[in-house]
Amino acid sequence: MVQSVPQAASLRGTVALPADKSISHRSAILSALGDGRSHVYNFPDSADPRSTLDCVRGLGVHAERDDGGVLTVRGRGLGGLQPPSEPLDCGNSGTTMRLLSGVMAGQKFGSVLTGDESLRQRPMERIADPLQAMGARIDLQEGHAPIRIRGTQSGLTPIEYRLPVASAQVKSCVLLAGLYANGRTVVIESTPSRDHTERMLGLEVQEVGGERHIIVGEDHTIPAANWSVPGDFSGAAFFLVAGSLVPDSELHLDDVGLNPSRTALLDVLDGMGADITIENERVQGSEPVGDIMVRSAELSGIDVGGRLIPNLIDEIPIIAVAAACATGRTEIRDAEELRVKETDRLHAMAQNLTALGAEVQEREDGLIIDGNGPNLLGASVESYDDHRIAMAMGVAGLVAHGTTTIAEAECARVSFPDFWSELDRVASF
Ligand code: S3P
Repeated sequence: MVQSVPQAASLRGTVALPADKSISHRSAILSALGDGRSHVYNFPDSADPRSTLDCVRGLGVHAERDDGGVLTVRGRGLGGLQPPSEPLDCGNSGTTMRLLSGVMAGQKFGSVLTGDESLRQRPMERIADPLQAMGARIDLQEGHAPIRIRGTQSGLTPIEYRLPVASAQVKSCVLLAGLYANGRTVVIESTPSRDHTERMLGLEVQEVGGERHIIVGEDHTIPAANWSVPGDFSGAAFFLVAGSLVPDSELHLDDVGLNPSRTALLDVLDGMGADITIENERVQGSEPVGDIMVRSAELSGIDVGGRLIPNLIDEIPIIAVAAACATGRTEIRDAEELRVKETDRLHAMAQNLTALGAEVQEREDGLIIDGNGPNLLGASVESYDDHRIAMAMGVAGLVAHGTTTIAEAECARVSFPDFWSELDRVASF
């Protein structure tokens, strides 16, 4: 599907956000491993969480989502999963593959995890290494999926693992494998990444010498639970930037997840001069949530790098759009992880924004963008079959003069199935 986006005169209204993708994956997996029947309220109908559901069903877990978004899961307990009759297809979802690999490593039976062409090109040694250190038997294909995991009869060996890359997926993989270890597993992170797994499992976290030690004890069990998934901050991000850039705008985003390990974009936009207000902050289950309002503002360039990067890792494509429309230079550094996401996001954004007339230099670990105020010119761009590139370019299209067309724009369904209709609904052209 080619999506056309004309320049918008204003954006007004309340945006219906999808539920948070990261929390959805975890709620489905933890419910499957729980003892008894769990419910997940506001479970989204986006492609990535659906991949996780399909995989847990492939492991003999009954999981049904009703039309109101309530997912009911009959958990089988940590030891109750059934051998899958075919490879577990994780689709486009790195989180599904990396988190489930941790679970599969601890099973008595073998399994194979595979995914689409993009996922089969993403690095998997980063999870195979610690899992092998725990005694798991794992084969990759030249560092990639399909991942073949042989069963273990004796459980896994606990390890103390210092993450070589700031990645919540790798951290969560090792923590989930730790549920199957004969002893205490400790994951050490020097740069904090999103902490949903430790929150949802209720794990002990110690601050030691500026690092976080996350501990899974022996004999950890997972009780059945009622989870409630907040709105996806990473989906809200597109509208926070769109509402800032399009003149005469006021957008409301309600019940948005505001976990501080996810919201560094708010600090960046604040530093750029955005007009964003957060109201009604509260705690829902293990996660902070709130309502956000954004109004149009003149943005200026900013430097983004260092420890902030993992807390806005998925927001860098949309930050690049904000930067292209801001006044002055923005430098994004330390973001080389973007090269191994659903596509090489640094390259994709450099190409696409250049096509719209922005001044962008691609660096090995980031982008230098010389903002030119709202002077982009509509053009035809590619989504690279990456949901976040498609949506970021949709926002750029709202600002660019003329019309922007985005090829393969349907990939937004991976995390935000109603993105294009919501954009259209709140926009006046
Ligand atoms: C995620 C962690 C991040 C993020 C991804 C979701 C998660 O990946 O980019 O969209 O839910 O744990 P990395 O941990 O690989 O950085």
